Amino acid sequence: MNVTTGRSRSPLHPAASSLYVPFDCEITAVSELTANEKLFRLRLADGASLGHLPGQFVQVSLLGWGEAPISIASPPTRDGYFELGVRRAGSLTGAMHRLAAGDVLGIRGPFGRPFELPRLRSQDLLLISGGCGLAPMRSLIQYCEDRREEFGRITILYGAKSVADTLFKEELAAWESSAGFACSRTVDGVGDGDCYSGNVGLITSLIPPLDFDAGRTVAVIVGPPVMYRFVIAELKKKGLPSERIVVSLERQMRCGVGKCGHCTIEHLYCCQDGPVFWLNEVEHLRGAL
Ligand SMILES: Cc1cc2nc3c(=O)[nH]c(=O)nc-3n(C[C@H](O)[C@H](O)[C@H](O)COP(=O)(O)OP(=O)(O)OC[C@H]3O[C@@H](n4cnc5c(N)ncnc54)[C@H](O)[C@@H]3O)c2cc1C
Ligand code: FES
Repeated sequence: MNVTTGRSRSPLHPAASSLYVPFDCEITAVSELTANEKLFRLRLADGASLGHLPGQFVQVSLLGWGEAPISIASPPTRDGYFELGVRRAGSLTGAMHRLAAGDVLGIRGPFGRPFELPRLRSQDLLLISGGCGLAPMRSLIQYCEDRREEFGRITILYGAKSVADTLFKEELAAWESSAGFACSRTVDGVGDGDCYSGNVGLITSLIPPLDFDAGRTVAVIVGPPVMYRFVIAELKKKGLPSERIVVSLERQMRCGVGKCGHCTIEHLYCCQDGPVFWLNEVEHLRGAL
């Protein structure tokens, strides 16, 4: 897909009769990530694969509660299921948090431009996420875990507001002790009762001590809007050009397939031209970051 010459049509999943009609997926497991975030494991009716790539999202719906875009948190390399990390934010996600294994969700997708894996292969990767951004990033991290030989050095940086808000704690601990990754995390602040001896401070504080080769490193950033400008500024100080920085952007979405115009960033449709962009494609656009 080329963001300057036009957008491609999202391929239709075999289980879907139309881009606009949801197909059923059964929830096979629900686990608590934090007090406000849950991980849903889902299975298509026939156990078929969703056919997604890391960085893509699905439109999730429940009759009577609406529809919302949710990033896919697991990689295509893990067969038979896909996972969604969901923060309780409003109508649909509130209703989802009351569901259990055996319940069924409507799904449209997968939609959106994924991380460009051919351009990431053989590069050193700096995977930087904040808050809920670790859910989509996890899809890429687990993909790299399963195809470790395809990539150079991989450094994972993660920042959460507090220890209680930290997502995927066990997986972070596993990545920290894995020979395949360097992994550092931080929390904005520590409470009195917290059992935590790691970094305290904003995620930007993890970047200056890093030693990386700006000529063979690609940084991928997924997080809350406020994070991007500051993280990008730190990366630029280390000599990383915009052509080597990838961002995943969130916009209000309705159709998810380039028809309704709710998600535009100037001439771009975030649902189809994104949500993943190379920084040089969007940094000059008003309101992009
Ligand atoms: C590409 C993409 C990927 C995403 N991935 C994820 C993900 O992986 N996990 C995740 O948890 N979220 C994700 N989101 C965000 C998620 O889609 C939104 O949080 C979505 O709005 C939730 O839907 P909802 O029906 O639960 O919330 P809504 O009911 O739409 O509410 C969302 C917010 O709007 C406020 N609100 C609603 N109605 C009003 C009103 N009338 N006046 C004022 N405020 C109002 C609510 O209080 C709440 O803060 C993603 C978004 C995008 C675009
Ligand atoms: S969500 Fe409808 S055009 Fe992007």
